[in-house]
Amino acid sequence: MTSYAQVKRVALGQARSMQRSALNLICLATMERDATNGPAIEFRDVTYDLPNGQRVLASLNLGVQRGEILVLLGRSGSGKTTTLKLINRLLSPTSGEIRVEGKAASAEDVVRLRRRIGYVIQEIGLFPHYTVERNIGLVPSIEGWPQEKIHTRATELLQMVGLDAQLALRYPHQLSGGQRQRVGVARALAADPQILLMDEPFGALDPLTRDELQREFLSLQRRLHKTVVFVTHDLNEALRLGSRIALMEAGTLVTVLSPADFLRSNNPLAAAYVRAFGSGLDSAANRGA
Ligand SMILES: Nc1ncnc2c1ncn2[C@@H]1O[C@H](COP(=O)(O)OP(=O)(O)O)[C@@H](O)[C@H]1O
Ligand SMILES: [Mg+2]
Repeated sequence: MTSYAQVKRVALGQARSMQRSALNLICLATMERDATNGPAIEFRDVTYDLPNGQRVLASLNLGVQRGEILVLLGRSGSGKTTTLKLINRLLSPTSGEIRVEGKAASAEDVVRLRRRIGYVIQEIGLFPHYTVERNIGLVPSIEGWPQEKIHTRATELLQMVGLDAQLALRYPHQLSGGQRQRVGVARALAADPQILLMDEPFGALDPLTRDELQREFLSLQRRLHKTVVFVTHDLNEALRLGSRIALMEAGTLVTVLSPADFLRSNNPLAAAYVRAFGSGLDSAANRGA
C-alpha cells in the first residue's frame, strides 16, 4: 500500500527535479546567449614570434563581430596573413588567446575548428589535378557526404558564385583567374561555415574582374551573413567591403575604424593611406584636364 506521505514525497521529488531541469535549461540558454552575444572571433593580447625570436605580432587585441566584414589593412609584412592563420590554427600564438564563438581555439579539436572556418587564398588554393567539382567538394567529401549530395551542393555553389554549372568538370588551368577565385570562394562556402577568412582573394585579378568579384561578394554576403575577416593592402577594397577596417603596421594594430571614420581620421597612418589613395584619384582626374 502506498501511503499519503510516500505519494507526497515522490511528488515533491518530481517537482524539485523539474525545477532543477528548468533551472539547468535557463542556465544553458543564458550561456548560449552569452556565447552568441560576444564577438565571433576575439584576439586577447596575442603575440606571435618566429622560432628565431623575431616578433611578428605584438599584443593584438581585436574582436570580430558576428556577420561583419572586418578588413585587415596594412602593407606587405605588417602581419595580416599571420593574424588570419592564428584564427584557423595554421599557426599558434606565442602568448595570449584566440577565442572562436566564445571558446578558446586552442582547446578545440583542430579539424572541427577548421570545418567551421572557410579559407580563401590567392591562386594556389585549388588542387590542379582535381576538377572544379572535386575542389569545391573537398570538405564535404572529408566529412563523408554522399556523392550525390556533394554534386548537388557543388552545382548550387557554382550558381551562387556566378559560374556556369558546366564548369564543374574542368580543371583549374582551364579557367580564367576570375573564375578560379570564384571557385575558391565556392569551395570555402561548401560546408556552410559561419566564418570566412579571405587572404587578398582578389589581389591578383585585373581591375575590372576585381570590381565584379567585389560587387558579387558583397551581394552574396548580404544573403549569407558570414563573419568575414578579409585581408587586403588596397584601401579602395577596404573601404568598399569593410564594415570596419583594422589598420596594421609592423605587427601592431594601429586602429580600428568604420570606412567613413577612416576617411576623416587624424591618425597619421590612416591619413597617409587616404592621401595616397586620394592622390591616385586626383592624378587620374587631372590627366584629362
Ligand atoms: N615563416 C616565416 N619565416 C620568416 N619570416 C616570416 C615567416 N612568416 C612570416 N614572416 C615575417 O613576418 C612578418 C609578417 O608576415 P605576414 O603576416 O605574412 O605579413 P602580411 O600578410 O601582412 O604581408 C613579415 O615580416 C614576414 O617576413
Ligand atoms: Mg599576406
